[in-house]
Amino acid sequence: MSFSCIRLSKICFLLSVIVCALLLLLLPKFQTSWRFGNYLQPRPLVVFNDSSKSDTPLQQVESSSVDRLDDEANNIMPLVKEELLQEWSNYIIDTGRASLKASGNRNEKPSKPVHDVMRDDREPVEISAIEKLELKDIFIAVKTTRKYHKTRLNLLFQTWISQAKGETFIFTDWEDQELRLRAGDHVINTNCSAVHTRQALCCKMSVEYDKFLESGRKWFCHVDDDNYVNLKNLLRLLSAFSHSQDVYVGRPSLDHPIEAADDVRNDGSTTTKFWFATGGAGFCISRGLALKMSPWASLGSFISTAERIRLPDDCTIGYIIEGLLEVKLLHSPLFHSHLENLQQLRGETVLRQVTLSYGGPENKHNVVSLAEVFSVQQDPTRFKSLHCLLYPNTAWCPTPMVK
Ligand SMILES: *[C@@H]1O[C@H](CO)[C@@H](O)[C@H](O)[C@H]1NC(C)=O
Ligand SMILES: *[C@@H]1O[C@H](CO)[C@@H](O)[C@H](O)[C@H]1NC(C)=O
Repeated sequence: MSFSCIRLSKICFLLSVIVCALLLLLLPKFQTSWRFGNYLQPRPLVVFNDSSKSDTPLQQVESSSVDRLDDEANNIMPLVKEELLQEWSNYIIDTGRASLKASGNRNEKPSKPVHDVMRDDREPVEISAIEKLELKDIFIAVKTTRKYHKTRLNLLFQTWISQAKGETFIFTDWEDQELRLRAGDHVINTNCSAVHTRQALCCKMSVEYDKFLESGRKWFCHVDDDNYVNLKNLLRLLSAFSHSQDVYVGRPSLDHPIEAADDVRNDGSTTTKFWFATGGAGFCISRGLALKMSPWASLGSFISTAERIRLPDDCTIGYIIEGLLEVKLLHSPLFHSHLENLQQLRGETVLRQVTLSYGGPENKHNVVSLAEVFSVQQDPTRFKSLHCLLYPNTAWCPTPMVK
């Protein structure tokens, strides 16, 4: 009896040692598969590197502004090629989930409609309007530069801007008579430099901000000259909020907040962590919040704020809102920049987004997938096809088939 008892406990002891050893062996495996499986995220792709030595921020940044440096000098984006775009495709989906989690963690619970808006870019969502909003309540700033007046901007005038002439303001760096005739005082020559440096970009954002405050409108939306804005969806999204609330909505290009060197803060730290919406996908700010930004953004102070943290324009917006005002970015999967795998957006889903974009000359195939109103040769960006699907009565669209 006692013999078998001792034997039994020996066996038990041996068994538990084996189990422990197995667990120890397997644990790292579980961890890696957890890290690289479901939560696979791209690394930040670009090291922001300014030529002046003292000017290098401590942070790797993937900002639209940084990325677009490539438009000028073709030396950064070669890093972002096809295989990386595959990774970005996961990112598109993951961002949506991450945002759900993020909003769940927040102290102040988002109201129901807000939650619905943030949920998904695949399913149509019914949003109950909080505020009766009209297009004329929105100030849409399009940032462009001299060299894109004829190409990118013309495409936008032909398509979505034709439906929002009164709401759209073009911010550029060159006095262009043709453009002036076309858009009158809705073209703003910022007198900022046309070079693609942080300072020049921040200079434009600063003018956009001041013009918005001057306009008295309820919402400020910034987009780039390679974005298609779906006006109906934009209106619907913003109607879910009140313009007097603090609202900052857009899509982050990173899967983590960035960190900027800052003055010593209340808690003794010398860095600030914050999310920012990538300018290349477009973002919106309510008037209520824009007014609070004024000490750091109005009448040129935006430029000195950006200098202080040495980050590009869209990061600086995030820094002021999340870092200084402690208002959280609402992560929305409905905004899209050319950094994503846009081919993943197809058919009906395309029609439900707020902003879209297209790959540049170095990445022609990164466009949304739409039925052929126009062929890819006739309409490489797919914006014309999209526009005809949304506004079939447009003069240059093919007559819809009558059934
Ligand atoms: C940043 O720029 C400096 C000087 O222009 C250069 O020497 C350095 O290699 C660059 N760093 C990176 C990471 O590209
Ligand atoms: C740019 O310069 C012109 C001519 O001096 C001036 O009329 C215009 O108001 C300036 N633009 C801005 C945004 O200050």
